Amino acid sequence: MMADRLYIGIDLGTFQSTISSSAGKSETIETVVGKPKDPVARNFLGRDVLFGADALKNKLACNLFRPMAAGVAQDDEANLAAAKAFVTNLIETADPEEFDEVYGVICSPSHISFTDKSNLVATLRGQVNAIMVVSEPFATAFGLEEIGGSIVVDIGAGTTDIARIYGTFPTEEDEMTIEHAGDSIDNELISLICKKYTGAQVTKDMVRKWKEEFSYVGGEVVECMVELSVEGKKQVVDIGDLVRDACETAMPHIVATIKAIVASADPEYQPVLRNNVILSGGGSLIQGVADRIADELSDIGDVNVWCCEDPITKVADGALALSQVMPDEQYTSIN
Ligand SMILES: Nc1ncnc2c1ncn2[C@@H]1O[C@H](COP(=O)(O)OP(=O)(O)OP(=O)(O)O)[C@@H](O)[C@H]1O
Ligand SMILES: [Mg+2]
Repeated sequence: MMADRLYIGIDLGTFQSTISSSAGKSETIETVVGKPKDPVARNFLGRDVLFGADALKNKLACNLFRPMAAGVAQDDEANLAAAKAFVTNLIETADPEEFDEVYGVICSPSHISFTDKSNLVATLRGQVNAIMVVSEPFATAFGLEEIGGSIVVDIGAGTTDIARIYGTFPTEEDEMTIEHAGDSIDNELISLICKKYTGAQVTKDMVRKWKEEFSYVGGEVVECMVELSVEGKKQVVDIGDLVRDACETAMPHIVATIKAIVASADPEYQPVLRNNVILSGGGSLIQGVADRIADELSDIGDVNVWCCEDPITKVADGALALSQVMPDEQYTSIN
């Protein structure tokens, strides 16, 4: 008898992670782990480890880990333990125990190098029987059935990953990664706010939420009213110009990288690629981003730039789709 197999697609993101399963489950959790700071916190919280929104809500009582973030040492023990706990929890949301075996296609942040991927394997061992690791842009293109010829621009939190896709697995030369993405926009917005409003007290989470509510590029300045604490005193201010300026800072870098990806492609494919530039990841939700990038690209010929639907879950959905059609030989058995 055939073993009852569960397929899963996992997108481990620096900011948030998603799992999609062949049993129809899908879950997105912020890539944050909280460990109670002391026995009092442990007692008050009633659990040893907290994940995602639960960890953030209790952040004052916890030590927080963002195990996939850029700059986090992947061989740091506390971080590895947090990563393992996070991934275990994520996979458990898909009820793997109801199946005989689990096959997974995994996307991990591009800054996680090959040696760190062996940590990833160690993390998954015991939970997943066989895995295949692919890049975010490739999973996205596969999920969209745009494998034939496209450029996928995944604007995430830690990085923007740009790849040309033409019918096969992209190689290293087909992909480029830059650090201009959601986090860099947040940092820019913090510094613009602090420059304009001396003494303003803002955290990264505050500006990220404002950005997610108001983000836009191009066009007229749009009013964005927010409540700011300036030296402890409430002040309601319009940060519309600053939101746009912060989002704009990423654009030239993204455009230049798309141009480089086109220019180094087989010349016969270049028109196809220019005509199918797909934006994905949370950053593709910036109002006006597709038009803005298309404008800047127009000097290299006819271009078509579009945003995919459901950009937050697209990578995991594509990974799941891929997991279900790949022959077993493509997988690496890990137990
Ligand atoms: N409406 C929005 N406007 C602008 N940015 C947004 C919006 N919604 C989400 N984001 C940003 O998108 C980023 C998260 O996107 P995504 O989930 O694709 O990242 P990730 O996969 O965790 O990161 P990475 O791919 O770099 O590892 C965050 O920086 C978030 O603030
Ligand atoms: Mg991502």
